[in-house]
Amino acid sequence: MSDSVDERIKFLSAEIARHSELYYNHSAPEISDSEFDVLWDELKKLDPDNEVLHRVGPEPLPGTEKVEHMFPMLSLDKGTTDDDIIHFVTQSTSGGKRYLAQPKLDGSALSLEYISGNLHRAATRGSGERGEDVTLNAKLVANIPTRLNYPYTIHVRGEVVMPLKIFEEKYSDVSPNPRNLCSGALRQKHGDGKADASDLIFCAYDVKFPSDPPIANYDSELLDWLKKAGIEPAPWKIFESETPEDEMIEYTKEWSLKRPSYEYEIDGIVFKVDELDNREKLGFTAHHPRWALAWKFPSQEAHSVLLDVDWQTGRTGSVTPVARIAPQMVGGVTVENVTLHNVGEVERLGIKIGDKVKITRRGDVIPKIIENLGPASSKDLQDRYHADGTKFSGTLSHRDIIIPQICPACQRSLTMEGAFLRCLSLDCDARTARSLTYWCRSLEIDGIGEKLIETLLDNELITSISDMYRLTHNQLSELDRMGDKSANNVISELNKTRTLNLAKFLHALGLERIGPEVATSISQHFTSLEKLLHWVDEGENSELTEIDGIGEKVALIFRDGIIKRRTLIDELREIITVTDEGEKSGGLLEGLSFCITGSLSRPRKEIAEEIKNVGGKVVSSVSGNLDYLVAGESAGSKLEKAENLGVKILSEKDLLNLVKKSDTDEISSSKTGTLDDWI
Ligand code: IVH
Repeated sequence: MSDSVDERIKFLSAEIARHSELYYNHSAPEISDSEFDVLWDELKKLDPDNEVLHRVGPEPLPGTEKVEHMFPMLSLDKGTTDDDIIHFVTQSTSGGKRYLAQPKLDGSALSLEYISGNLHRAATRGSGERGEDVTLNAKLVANIPTRLNYPYTIHVRGEVVMPLKIFEEKYSDVSPNPRNLCSGALRQKHGDGKADASDLIFCAYDVKFPSDPPIANYDSELLDWLKKAGIEPAPWKIFESETPEDEMIEYTKEWSLKRPSYEYEIDGIVFKVDELDNREKLGFTAHHPRWALAWKFPSQEAHSVLLDVDWQTGRTGSVTPVARIAPQMVGGVTVENVTLHNVGEVERLGIKIGDKVKITRRGDVIPKIIENLGPASSKDLQDRYHADGTKFSGTLSHRDIIIPQICPACQRSLTMEGAFLRCLSLDCDARTARSLTYWCRSLEIDGIGEKLIETLLDNELITSISDMYRLTHNQLSELDRMGDKSANNVISELNKTRTLNLAKFLHALGLERIGPEVATSISQHFTSLEKLLHWVDEGENSELTEIDGIGEKVALIFRDGIIKRRTLIDELREIITVTDEGEKSGGLLEGLSFCITGSLSRPRKEIAEEIKNVGGKVVSSVSGNLDYLVAGESAGSKLEKAENLGVKILSEKDLLNLVKKSDTDEISSSKTGTLDDWI
């Protein structure tokens, strides 16, 4: 082997090891999956037996609790073309021709160990042989049951993912993609990460049996069986025609179309032999099973040139760099604007105007720059066309990106907060425009979009949300392209939102980190806007953190956001009616607080929801004011504290009886007797 090839192998294996470490142990990849695949494929060609190619991932971080996997968690063989599918079918069709396909979910792999039906331990994939114990956080994942419907002893494998809706609502400004948040949320010490494990979903794809497997011929039978046991598998489809490869190829095309609107991020389709006998015959390599293929979507990456950077102020005041690039097709769409995320990203990439850049576009997510390839040449600008087919005629210039000191919209000084540049002024025009759009969007006010809001602001007809409700038919109908009918429509749409409940009101205010779920929890806690404002005026912080799912940081952001919007809120109260949260509920548990602890048979979120449905309040800590502690198995310090404080303790069964009873008319209409009489 020549020296230079040797050098290259050393370089590639070190890079693969380094990037695996960043990806698996630090949840902070520096390169995209396809860039990683390029390194991998090159090393595979040069040195197929290289040791790093046969490691699944790095060892878990020192200092974390390790778990030896009873069944190793292997990787999958990869393919990207139709031929790869044909080849896979040809080499795996020994005993039968039945295949199973599932979306390849792009999250974090997790193994759940159930003993006699109880969740005993949860572990990450780690090196494939040894992972990291993440039991506590896994229990927070909404659909991971702590107890199965049957007393099985099994190891369930699957992927933990974050619904894209939640990612967009809560986390898109803290992380470039949901996948990094998934492994981070599983592995964090309680509450110190960017995302909450309760925002994740587990999708199972495999089950292993330490002893006595049930009699089954097909993997798909086991997936059905898992469903009955209480675990939701990822969706699957079976192919069993004479030429399954044709339908399998067709299936990848269907998913390519469906991918942008799918609820989770996926990066391909996993095809697996469904017959368990046939799987056994095919066996494994050191790295992957021969009975499965991960077909990955073609790369959504391409090269372009950075032409300029504009800075835009968003609803929460963050000033983000938007890069203008030479037109480039990515994933079937011509892209000319891409995000650079924040100032920290500009610095990390060390990027300058006139640099050649690698861009990526995933599903519906805004395209972004992922790599700086150094100074571009004029050749890089050739043969480029805008989306309308006209020829691009821009020229190349090389210069630094100037980070603004003042807000591009209101010219006030900006402040750096971590990697973000922020405009702290609430009456900034750009922030106002985006807050107005957010208000209209979250209250589903049809007929008022970004364009109309801009026109109204430009014509000085409005300066705030409350002004919108003062608009007259005359003012509206005089605007360009706004007839009598549209003006009537806008007024009637606005009128529909003159009465709204506290949760909707809080969400529509557009405070940072306050999505619909958090807004609902907060409104159930305070029950009325008056009480909420009283709490703000009193200057207390701690009370909000009693709410399940709200930490110190969100509590602070929320209080601060309300204080800053106090004038707006007071103005709005004059014009619209914010109804109390308690008014509608009237459930049997109204006015009573519950804290939930210990191992329960169902996800905590589900139990909390049931309590809330009948008017109860769910808090996260035990205090003298708490009415009931719902204690599951192996409840620890909370149970002890509740006993010391004389707080009443309910078992899960007690609670169930209570909630069920409060559901029946007979009981809820005769509200006599104390709560304890229902148990
Ligand atoms: S089957 C022997 N099915 O992809 C391994 N894996 O690149 C059996 N993944 O480690 C895995 N979705 O974390 C399988 N529907 C699916 C999957 C899936 C995502 C992940 C999994 C695996 C990785 C391999």
